[in-house]
Formats: sequence, C-alpha cells, structure tokens
Amino acid sequence: MTAPVRAEPSIVTVSLGARSYDIVIGRDVVGSLGARIAALRPGAKAAIVTDENVARCHLATVEAALAGAGVVTSRVIVPAGEASKSYRVFEQLCEAVIASRIERGDVIVALGGGVVGDLAGFAASVVRRGLDYVQVPTTLLADVDSSVGGKTAIDSAHGKNLVGAFHQPILVLADPALLDTLPEREFRSGYAEIVKYGLLGDVAFFSWLEANWREIFARGPACEQAIAVSCRAKAVIVARDERETGERQLLNLGHTFGHALEAACGFSERLLHGEAIAIGMALAFEFSATRQGLLPKAAAERVIRHLAAAGLPTGLRDVPGPLPAVDQLMDLIAQDKKVRRGMLTFILVRGIGAAFVETGVDQREVRAFLSEKRAEQ
Ligand code: GLY
Repeated sequence: MTAPVRAEPSIVTVSLGARSYDIVIGRDVVGSLGARIAALRPGAKAAIVTDENVARCHLATVEAALAGAGVVTSRVIVPAGEASKSYRVFEQLCEAVIASRIERGDVIVALGGGVVGDLAGFAASVVRRGLDYVQVPTTLLADVDSSVGGKTAIDSAHGKNLVGAFHQPILVLADPALLDTLPEREFRSGYAEIVKYGLLGDVAFFSWLEANWREIFARGPACEQAIAVSCRAKAVIVARDERETGERQLLNLGHTFGHALEAACGFSERLLHGEAIAIGMALAFEFSATRQGLLPKAAAERVIRHLAAAGLPTGLRDVPGPLPAVDQLMDLIAQDKKVRRGMLTFILVRGIGAAFVETGVDQREVRAFLSEKRAEQ
C-alpha cells in the first residue's frame, strides 16, 4: 500500500533581522515541535505553560513530541480564562519556571490560546532577564493573531493588556489538528480575525473567504490555507512596524467599537473577543460608508452579509442582554483609544481591503452614529 501523501507545512517568516522567526502551519506539525526546538536551541530544556483545559486535550501530545527529540520538559498549568492574566498568576508562573531550573538558553513553550500566549510570553520576556519562547496556539484566534507579532501582557486594574512587553517568539507552530477540540463558537470567533485580514488589505482573500468559509469551518485544507494567508498578512505588517507606531494599527480594525462592547459585557462569555470584533468591523464599515462617505453602502452590506452568513454577530442588537447608554459606550471608547482634542484615532475603510488609520475622527460623529444604531435596536 502506498503511504498517504502528507502535504508539506506552510512556512511564513516574520522578518525582524536577528529576531526573525518562522510560523510553521500544517496538520500534525506539532509532532515536529521537539525536533524544531532542538534544531534552534540544541540542548535546551523546555517549560511548557498551558491551562487546565488545554492540558487535558493536548499536553500529553506535546510532551511526547518534545521527549521524542530528547528535550527535557517541565510543566506549569494555570487556570483557564482571562483571570489568569493577573499579577498573582504571573508571579506564580515566574516562580514555577525558576523552580523548574529553566536557565538562559532554555525555552518556554506557550501551549494554549491568547491568554496562555500573552502570559507565558510576558514571563519569557522577564524571567532571567529574558528567555526564548515558542508559541503553540490551540485556538483559531491565537493561530492568526495573538501568537504572532510578539505582543505579550497581563491585565491591570485599569484595563486589559496594560502591563507587558514586545517580545518575539523564536518559533510559532500552528497545527489545525489542535483545533479539532475547539468548540464551534470559539472557532467562529477566531474566524472573525481571519475575515479582518481580507477587510483590511486583501479584497481577493475576502472574496475567497466568501466562497470557501464552509470548508474552513470543516477544518480541512482550506482552514490551513486561511491560517497561512492570515499569518502572512500579519507577518508583513509586523516586519514593517513591530512597535505599532503606524501600520500595525490597521490590525485594530473593528477594535474601537469591539473593545467598548467587550468591556460593556465585562469581557465575559456574553461576547467573545472575535464576536465583538465582528460587530466592530461591521460598524466600522457602516460608519465609513454612512458618516464619512468613504465607500458605497453596498460594500458595508457585503461585509455584513458575509459575517452573518458565517454565524457572527454584526450589530448592537446581536449583543445578548442590555447594553449601556451611548454616553457610557463613548466613555469606554475614550478610555480605550487615544482621544486628542475631541478627536479619535480610528481605523476607517475606503473599501473592502482598503483600511487606513485616521487620527482625526470627531467624537460627535461617532456618538451620533452610535445613537442611530441604538435606535435601530
Ligand atoms: N493583535 C494586534 C497586534 O498584534 O498588533
């Protein structure tokens, strides 16, 4: 019998000079984790950081992949959920990594979604004045966004992600097989971030998503392809603007409205991050069309049609439960984004695939738009 042909993984390089690294995308690439770490850092030990849920599903596989290549491992398991991005859990994590005798030259493996990646990446940036780390994302959202680009953080009492560092991983392994256990709602939420790449800079990719989203949700080769295209788009932006002084802000498309809605929902299960971003992107397109006259309304409607077809929310009416008044939503927007002399920085669009950073959006326009949307509810 002929052995089944296994497609080669896709490799996307994030080009940052001496800190460049590969994102390796492919079904079952996690089996190569140990060999890849051994090749990058011969003789290194690995501390695997993960959460309770991911540990149940994937820790044994990852430990076996590392052991198979002779990499000695230890493990730190944190509680699942955003609450782990706290000073307390961060301290426990740093102490556990030190206690497991991880030295400079060893690596941390962040096995999980965005919370684990942010937390473990931040620990890697400071423990022993900086350790290397590898991202092994287990959610679609982490595959295409948080695992790439080196943003690491924990939360402060004043807001999310306010204490952190830019610290790039040395490798990202995005294995769609790790998504097999991901609940459908979480997968759909991650899909919103994939759509974002089409909307912000690649209309052909958006058209491809319109035609192929069902195959992506079936988690087959189209899923792998969508992850690769998304990572490639992010890698280009990060390589040009690692510290988010300009172009990287485009990745915040949908986040002005989206973050305010997430905050209004207490960053809870009521509205997942990708769901909030889906609404935020729909509103950003509508705002750009109806209030700024930047594109025909039909383009905004096309975006909304696609998000809705994929089962994502697209408007304020889709947020379950009561929302605060417009004034409070405006306060949340102002807290999150820089406001100068009444002007907001906003990611606006001139069309699908044509986003840009606008630093002079009048708050009164945004307020009027939100009032109109509330009235439609
Ligand atoms: N998640 C947005 C960024 O990485 O810049």
